[in-house]
Amino acid sequence: MAIIHVAAECFPVAKVGGLADVVGALPKFQNKNNQKAEVIMPFYNLPFTQKNKFKEIYKGEVPISGTNYTFRVVNLSKKSEFTINFIDIPELLYTEYVYSQDDTIRFLAFQIAVLKWISSWENKPEIIHVHDHHTALIPFMMTQSYQFDVLKNIPTVFTIHNAQYQGWFSHEKVGLIPKFDFSKVGLLDWNGEINPMATAIKCAWAVTTVSPSYMEELKHKANGLEDLLKHESGKCIGILNGIDTEVWNPETDEYLKKNYKRTNAISGKKTNKNWLCEQYEFDKNKPLIAFIGRFVHDKGCDLFAELFTSYLKELDVSILILGSGDTKIQEDLTNLNAIFRDKYKYVAGYNEALSHVIYAGADFLLMPSRVEPCGLNQMYSLRYGTIPIVNNVGGLKDTIIDYRRPDGFGIVITESNVLEIKRALDEAVQLYDNQVLLKQIKNQIMKIDHSWLASAKEYQQLYKKLKN
Ligand code: ADP
Ligand code: GLC
Repeated sequence: MAIIHVAAECFPVAKVGGLADVVGALPKFQNKNNQKAEVIMPFYNLPFTQKNKFKEIYKGEVPISGTNYTFRVVNLSKKSEFTINFIDIPELLYTEYVYSQDDTIRFLAFQIAVLKWISSWENKPEIIHVHDHHTALIPFMMTQSYQFDVLKNIPTVFTIHNAQYQGWFSHEKVGLIPKFDFSKVGLLDWNGEINPMATAIKCAWAVTTVSPSYMEELKHKANGLEDLLKHESGKCIGILNGIDTEVWNPETDEYLKKNYKRTNAISGKKTNKNWLCEQYEFDKNKPLIAFIGRFVHDKGCDLFAELFTSYLKELDVSILILGSGDTKIQEDLTNLNAIFRDKYKYVAGYNEALSHVIYAGADFLLMPSRVEPCGLNQMYSLRYGTIPIVNNVGGLKDTIIDYRRPDGFGIVITESNVLEIKRALDEAVQLYDNQVLLKQIKNQIMKIDHSWLASAKEYQQLYKKLKN
């Protein structure tokens, strides 16, 4: 089956969070399942696009907001595991960032260019699969905009990676969308605004979220979309993300200080931990607990400053935090660097290489998320033999069982607040002191299979259903 994924991010080209990891892996595993999957994404001005050579395969025009933008479609000159097609609109998309404060015109122009290009194909794709709000007007334009009439019978799938961000813009900008029967403008509206995410939930043939539990949670808490999701529940399904077990493999991971597999994980992890401890002047004998992520309220990292200020003195642990985002959280966590020199370090910024060493070298990975649609970090940490400490929500609920329960292996809290996280850290210390159990759990989690193959099959079944 010929599938086109359309997204704003795709690893290794452009990554802000887990969306990139999914779009960079799912097509690869769909191809391994004998499908033909490709990606279409914007051509940004990032190291990947600067370093590689591209060839032009199409040229067209996007008229938007009074300007006629010329666009090119390019793809990599060299062979790659799956084809990534880039929409190049220099004035709008060739930026050193993926997202900015106001992306309405940028991503609308991108989506129109995508559809213009696909409309020109002789053999149309069998499925168009769009991801998050940046690509969420595609199902509407395919079915309502006159100029894309040739695409209206192609089934569309819309995946919600995060319902928090919906891409709202005012009705005053409705003229940006290619002409459609105005009696259908209600499809664009949710609560008085144009809401691309709501529009895709209404117009796509199927809607998926990235874990079954998140799908359930959204019916009660979806930043205003609860009723819509309940109403459309017949076409909604939660499919758990997988991970790219080729990129995330402790046996071959080139970023690691030492590679290892399950049978020599204890010594392999120790080399990576020792490197981190030397780097940040931590005591090698204490449990190393890490956090990696975007600093947003949903991740629960706003609780860290109070937690560590109140309790870190009495806790026998080392804490390593890698991330960036909210400036207040960054400031608070930076200030703690001077206070707890030998047991706490906040490393600001995005660092792919360091993140891999942390997954390998930490003893525990902390994810006190208030909302976590799927979460990939906990699955990476399982594969690297690092015990996740998670709040019981969304994809975390679907992947981690508390170690005190039958077959359990993680530390699970049921609410994200300072006291609960402190309790979990105390438990981590206790567990660390029980080296026999610790070793057994590490051995157990490294056997868990979260590769994409199973989830890619679920998508395949869904596509097949839509085609019939
Ligand atoms: P989200 O998409 O909500 O950010 P996920 O758990 O799905 O959360 O995915 C996060 C991805 O981004 C993981 O691959 C994680 O390792 C990576 N990541 C997040 N913050 C950083 C950072 N500061 N440096 C390196 N990688 C990061
Ligand atoms: C979103 C979610 C995250 C999920 C990722 C990939 O960014 O916040 O939980 O893992 O998308 O689907």
